[in-house]
This record gives sequence, structure tokens and C-alpha cells, in this order.
Amino acid sequence: AAQAREKQASLTDLLEKAGDAYRKQLSQSPKAIAYLKGRGVSGVTAKRFGLGYAPEGWRSLASIFPAYDDPKLVEAGLVIESDDGEGKRYDRFRDRVMFPIRNIKGECIGFGGRVFGDEKPKYLNSPETPVFHKGRELYGLFEARTAIREHGYVLVTEGYMDVVALAQLGFPNAVATLGTACTPDHVHKLFRFTDTVVFSFDGDAAGRRAARKALDGALAYASDTRSIKFLFLPAEHDPDSFVREYGADAFARHVHDATPLSRFLLEAASELCDLGQAEGRARMSSNARPLWNLLPDGALKRQLLGEIADKAQLPA
Ligand code: GTP
Ligand code: MN
Ligand code: MN
Ligand code: MN
Ligand code: MN
Repeated sequence: AAQAREKQASLTDLLEKAGDAYRKQLSQSPKAIAYLKGRGVSGVTAKRFGLGYAPEGWRSLASIFPAYDDPKLVEAGLVIESDDGEGKRYDRFRDRVMFPIRNIKGECIGFGGRVFGDEKPKYLNSPETPVFHKGRELYGLFEARTAIREHGYVLVTEGYMDVVALAQLGFPNAVATLGTACTPDHVHKLFRFTDTVVFSFDGDAAGRRAARKALDGALAYASDTRSIKFLFLPAEHDPDSFVREYGADAFARHVHDATPLSRFLLEAASELCDLGQAEGRARMSSNARPLWNLLPDGALKRQLLGEIADKAQLPA
């Protein structure tokens, strides 16, 4: 175990060094500075999140890591070893705006890197490594941790830029899942900081699907003292674009009007069900059942049973 910890520390050291180098490169890259300015990111915000720039070139990191062949660089996810048999090595992140991902201790455990244009993949994340597990980590949690306690709730978004824009415009209590679905592990982690989780995914179809998945993962944590809500934005917006276009007050109204888990569960169960017909009502209650089963025992669970019965027009 001590050995594993030592290994992890050596990886986070490398990642931290890389992050420092990316930050320095940002200050010297008019292109990257212009990109962030163009997206409305201030210098203060860039600093808060330690944003950087990974330059073009296949082995830029060689200048800060003279031992570029060190297998630890591959293990940290910074360097890729080609599988062409020759084992050629090159930087994973090239010509991208870099978002360092920190664990709750503030150690750098990975990166997300965004291209400047519409190339694919738009975001490149660090691979799973001994220090980075996408299903457990949340982007921005370290930066948001005090604000989450102060505001009394956490906003869970889909994207790096959502977290960055929200922080800049008055919602420093936002985090993002890392291009994966929100997992029960994520929800569990967040409830260590607050008793209210507000999911705020994109208004598009992918965002709706993400909300449905989050509902499944969150149900086991909904209780009489913990509150889970779902904030739905207009279809063409994500939190970043919305808060920039309509401002903090408009976003705050959406937070205030967010759909409680109980209502979202009923809506989700009623999807494609004609509640005007017995068949549709039966289908709704059979859709609701597996979701309801996931709720922990308590008042909320009993309440919802009543509501499902009402909606199904059955005596509770
Ligand atoms: P911007 O265009 O920079 O505003 O990105 P976005 O955050 O709005 O991206 P989008 O809504 O398309 O996707 C949401 C999140 O999914 C992103 O923040 C990333 O974490 C992730 N994501 C998007 N595109 C990719 C991709 O091509 N590969 C991977 N691994 N993740 C992606
Ligand atoms: Mn793993
Ligand atoms: Mn989207
Ligand atoms: Mn966006
Ligand atoms: Mn988005």
C-alpha cells in the first residue's frame, strides 16, 4: 500500500509539472489567450482553474522532462507509446487548451484538452491511470469545495466550460462529470459536501439522456434529508452558453425552479404513456416501479408510492 501511494505521488508530481508547463505556454500563446478571451474567460478565472496550453509538436514535453523515455510519463497518461512495434513516443496533448483535473486534495490527476476548432475529438481526456478514474472524479470539485458549502448546493454539469463560465458569473459551486455518465460514486462523493445536488445538463437530447442516467444513479441517495433536483435549459443551450447570454439572475431562476427528483421520476415513468387510458396508466406504474425500488426506505419513498398510485388512479 505504501508502495502504491508512492507510485501515485510520483505520477501526480509529473502531472503537476506538466500543468505548470502548460500554464507557462498559455501565457506565451496569443492564439490560446485569444481563444479563451473569445469564450469570455477572464484572466482571474483562467488562473482559478489553472488553465494552460499544450503546444503543437510531437514531443514538446521533452523540454521539461529530459528523461522523456521514462515509462512513468506513459503511465501518467502524458505520453503515448505507439503500438507500431517501434515503441515511438509522443505527447498525448498537442495544440489544445488544457484543463487540469484535481483530486480533492488539490493534486493534479489528469487533464482535459480542447481543440480550437471543430475537429474530433473536441475534448481529449487523460486515460484511466492509477491516479485518475473518470467514474469517480468530478472536474472542478477541488476549486468548488468551499463554495458548495457556502451556497448550500452543488451544480453538476456536463462540461469543463460550463464549470468555468458558471464560476466566473457567480456560481463557483459547479462541477462537471468527465465526459461520462454521472455515476452513483459521483453522487455519493457530492453528498459529503452538501445535502442538495442540482443536475444541470445541456438542453439537447444528449443532455436529456444524461439526466435520465443521473436519475438512475441518484435514486439510491435520495432521502428525506437529501435533495436532488434537475434543471432543464432551453434545447439550444448549455449552462455556459445560457449564463453568458441571459446572465446570472436568469440562471438562478432556473436553479430555483429546478424539477425535484420525485417529479422527474413521475415524468420519466410517464414518457410515451397515454394516462387517459388504463393501458397507459398501467405502463406508467410498471415503469415507475423499478425506479421507486431504488429509493431508500423513508418518508420520501412512501410519499412517492402515493403519488404513483394517484397518477395511476389506483387507491394507494
Ligand atoms: P464546448 O464546445 O467547449 O462548449 O464544449 P461542451 O462542454 O459544451 O461540450 P459538449 O456539450 O459537446 O460535451 C459535454 C462534455 O462532454 C464536454 O465538456 C467533455 O467533457 C465531453 N466531450 C465532448 N466532446 C468530447 C469528445 O470528443 N471526447 C471526449 N472524450 N469527451 C467529450
Ligand atoms: Mn480505474
Ligand atoms: Mn451537449
Ligand atoms: Mn458548451
Ligand atoms: Mn455542452
